[in-house]
Amino acid sequence: MNFINPIYYGVEGIKEINKYIQSYHPSKIVFLVDENTHELCYPKIITEIESSAEIEILEIDSGEHNKNLYICINLWEALTELKIDRKALLINVGGGVLTDMGGFVANCYKRGIPFINIPTTLLAMVDASIGGKTGVDLGSHKNQIGNFVLPQLVHVDVGFLTTLPTEQILSGFAEIIKHGLIADKKYWEEIIRLDDRNPDYLEPLIKTSIEIKKKVVSNDFTESGLRKILNFGHTVGHAVESFFLENNTPILHGEGVAMGMIVESYISMKKGFLSYPEYEEIKLYISSLYPKLNLKKDYFDDIFSFMQNDKKNVNREIKFVLLEKIGQAVYDISVEKELIKEAIYLYIE
Ligand code: GLY
Repeated sequence: MNFINPIYYGVEGIKEINKYIQSYHPSKIVFLVDENTHELCYPKIITEIESSAEIEILEIDSGEHNKNLYICINLWEALTELKIDRKALLINVGGGVLTDMGGFVANCYKRGIPFINIPTTLLAMVDASIGGKTGVDLGSHKNQIGNFVLPQLVHVDVGFLTTLPTEQILSGFAEIIKHGLIADKKYWEEIIRLDDRNPDYLEPLIKTSIEIKKKVVSNDFTESGLRKILNFGHTVGHAVESFFLENNTPILHGEGVAMGMIVESYISMKKGFLSYPEYEEIKLYISSLYPKLNLKKDYFDDIFSFMQNDKKNVNREIKFVLLEKIGQAVYDISVEKELIKEAIYLYIE
C-alpha cells in the first residue's frame, strides 16, 4: 500500500488548503495555535484563507511538557463547548508538539475530524508534521500514546522559519543530518558543506529531507520495518530527552537526537558496521554544531530504563537502528547493555 502525505510549499500550499476547504465545506474551521504561532504566524495565514466558514481559535502553551493527555482533554472539552461537529476542520499551526498533539486530538474527537498541518518549525517541517505519526507523551515517556493518521495535507512555508530562534533551527537540523546519514551520502556531503543555516539556504535541504522521509514512509506507513530507520539517533536520544524532561530540565528534541547520533554511530562502529573514519567524521561534525549535554555517568541507569520502554523493542530486547555506512542504515539490531554504557560513557568523557 502506498501512503503519501500531500505536501505543498509556499503559495501552492495555501491554494491547496483553499481548494480543500471549497470541496469539503467544513462546518467550522478551528485553528490550533500556541502563544508564538498565534502572534507570529496565524495573522498571515488567516488573511490567505478563503472561506465563509466560522473560525475558532484554540491556543495551547508551547513546550514538550504540555504534550500530554490532560491538555488533550482540555482541547476535547473546548471543542465540545464550542459545539464543533464532525464536519469541522482542524488546522494545526505550530511545531512538532502542536502538530503531533493536534493530529491526535482531531483523530479521536467524535471518532475523527479532518486536519491540516502547517508546520512552523524546522523540526516539524522535515519530520513531525509529515508521515502521519500523532500522539502525546505519557509522563516522561515520549509519544507513548498515539496513532498513525494522515493529515489532509501539509503546507510548508519556510518564511515562518525567520521567526524561529537559532536553537530551534539547530534542533530541526538534527533531523536533516539524520536523513543524510540514513539514506543519502551525497546529501550528507551537501549538509556538511552548509555553513549558513538561514532559511533561504535551508529550503533545498528541507525539500530533500521531506522527499527522503516521504519515500521511507510510503513503503512502511505503520513502521513494521523500513520506517524504523527514521529512528536513528532516537533510541538514545529519546531516552536522554525523557531523562531531562523528568528532571525538569528539558532539552530540545534535536539536542537529544544529535547526542544520540554520536552514541549510536559509535555503537555502529563497534558492532562492525560503520568504519572508524566515518564514525570520526560524524562525531566531529555533530559535536561542532551541538553543545555537549550535561550528563553524568550516574545517570546511566535511569537513561537505560527509558530505553527499555522504547517503542522499537521486541521481547524486552532493545533494538537499534545502526549505520552500515554514511547513507545506509540497518534496523532491528540488538545491542548489549555494556556496549550502550561504553558508548554513553565515551560521550560523557
Ligand atoms: N519521526 C520518525 C517517523 O516519523 O517515523
